[in-house]
Amino acid sequence: MTQNKNDWSPSTQAVQALHLIDDATGAVVPGIELASTFARGSDYEPVGDFNYARYDNPTTQATEKVLASLDGGADALAFNAGLAATVSVFETVRSGQHIAAPRVMYHGGQDWLRRISETRGIGLTFFDQTEDGALEDSIRPGETAILWIETPVNPTWDVIDIKKAAKAAHDAGAILAVDSTVAPPCTTRALELGADIVFHSATKYLGGHSDLTAGALICAEENELWDEIKQVRKLTGGILSPFDAWLLLRGMRTLFIRYERASENAMELAQTLSNHPKVERVLYPGLESHPGHEIARKQMRSGFGGMMSILVDGDAEAAKRVATATRLFIPATSLGGVESLIEHRKSVEGPHSIVPPNLLRLSVGIEDVKDLIADLDQALERV
Ligand SMILES: Cc1ncc(COP(=O)(O)O)c(C=O)c1O
Repeated sequence: MTQNKNDWSPSTQAVQALHLIDDATGAVVPGIELASTFARGSDYEPVGDFNYARYDNPTTQATEKVLASLDGGADALAFNAGLAATVSVFETVRSGQHIAAPRVMYHGGQDWLRRISETRGIGLTFFDQTEDGALEDSIRPGETAILWIETPVNPTWDVIDIKKAAKAAHDAGAILAVDSTVAPPCTTRALELGADIVFHSATKYLGGHSDLTAGALICAEENELWDEIKQVRKLTGGILSPFDAWLLLRGMRTLFIRYERASENAMELAQTLSNHPKVERVLYPGLESHPGHEIARKQMRSGFGGMMSILVDGDAEAAKRVATATRLFIPATSLGGVESLIEHRKSVEGPHSIVPPNLLRLSVGIEDVKDLIADLDQALERV
């Protein structure tokens, strides 16, 4: 029996980039269409579906089809950075309306929220994502336009219950948008749990090779809000370039297998470091001791990912000494690439940071875990 493409499992669809075989040449990988503009015919209508590359182009559109299918969404938009995508959502909020978001989340998104709250009269509440009921209390019925959550939360990896958040948002007439960068669709499909929009910094796991910056939005339904977001992207030039879209498409083909390996490595590392004398605490949602473990088990279906933090048994200086003593872990920001990174988070987050000074964030890659453990072991001597 011939299976329809839509019946293939998400991992098969990703590996084959939706089987987008070129009709004219048979090429099994879509090409890169670099044209910035598209010709019109004798009737002065565009020859094909495209008009101008800032509006849309064939390569970015092919990538968006895969993004939409991975998250089970109605449509997807790719942007030239994660933040460009985030900002396009926030741009739809009117003065007098309100946004609720967690107290700990990606600091760049928070900076933008503070900015529009101060300059445009938009209400803003940061709720404590570790406190029961704080999310619900932060929502103002009839006024809150967007409940924005991130889960697991960067860099403490607290887990927010997406289903509960969706109910709270919808009961109050708001939409739920989820930053699922750390839990890509191979493990969490936020739209299926009730989100209206899912966001990824595709710079991270979706791209997976630390060689592009990109953002993605995927919607549950194409509605007025989605049209407005599309319009914002068109007017700000936020679209992902064809070359970067192609890199992203290539990266997504191995998403499932990369994430699986990173999750296995991270779990082993988290267990080992939990018993390390120089480590005060390991924050990783895969550990049973983590307060968000039960929810994580429900909404991270195929692994807890490669992101964790450790609190070293010492001060900020001790933590920085460790971050500069590793030989394999690269001291750099970002996450979700095949190579492992280490970062003293407080140093990069700026003045609003509430991250503990002894916290080191690890992005665990897909190397041999024995080498990763040995590297951290020798670096932790420097505490
Ligand atoms: C969770 C999360 N959200 C959003 C962003 C912003 O994405 P970008 O750097 O691609 O603009 C990042 C980047 O580090 C992130 O980690």
